[in-house]
Amino acid sequence: MYKIPANTLFLGKTIHFMPSCHSTNDIAKDLCGKHDTKEGTVVITDYQTSGRGQRGNTWESIAGQNLTFSVLLQPSMINLSQQFYLNMIASLAVKECLISLLPSKNVQVKWPNDVLIDGKKVSGILIENIVKRGCFEWSVLGIGLNVNQVDFINPRATSIKVENGLTNDLLGLWDQLLHQLERYYLKLKSQSYADLKSHYLQSLIGFKELRRYLAEYEFEGEIIDVLESGHLVIRSKQKIYQFDFKEVEFLLN
Ligand code: BTN
Repeated sequence: MYKIPANTLFLGKTIHFMPSCHSTNDIAKDLCGKHDTKEGTVVITDYQTSGRGQRGNTWESIAGQNLTFSVLLQPSMINLSQQFYLNMIASLAVKECLISLLPSKNVQVKWPNDVLIDGKKVSGILIENIVKRGCFEWSVLGIGLNVNQVDFINPRATSIKVENGLTNDLLGLWDQLLHQLERYYLKLKSQSYADLKSHYLQSLIGFKELRRYLAEYEFEGEIIDVLESGHLVIRSKQKIYQFDFKEVEFLLN
């Protein structure tokens, strides 16, 4: 049912569609081991039985209502220490699609790469890399986007339908999302690092804004940067902190 997108150069030119599977990231990682797998290949399903999230969490999504897919990339233009650019391009691509559908809503990115609409999570991204001799061999970008689901156990989750009251066209949205993803990936290929980072920071919740955080203790600070490695840089009155994933939490206002 998913067809090759007309408006991309290489993303989605090979599609593996499965009505259901355990996790598209796992299927995509298996494809990395096959000699004929091409960059831009996409694995997409209507239903994941063991959808995976960050930090060992699960990703739940009702069958046929949302987008759950993984894209295979070979980002040889960046080195491992710059891997966070992949998180930036994926979250910016999702954000860009949402802005065009929901122009009156506040679409933002929560570090490292959750996408939120008016403070509620609409999309999660799981990036897994296959590294050989210190270089990227493959990167699997797994994206879950809540589209037409309206019931969520988590009160801080939302979907496009919850926000616009419409049943949205899954295939059209997927097409647009691949187009945006390719656009940002090509920016990365052309080494537009400063541009990507500034766009990401401008989209980030808490950038140049005083908020409360929890690390080893609670403190107030403002995000002043995100490094290419992904470390979050927060300035408090006393000092400048750098946090890796899992080391800091945003406290809800
Ligand atoms: C998160 O927010 O914790 C990340 C969620 C990532 C979910 C997507 S859905 C497609 C791909 N396959 C998976 O098993 N996970 C990612």
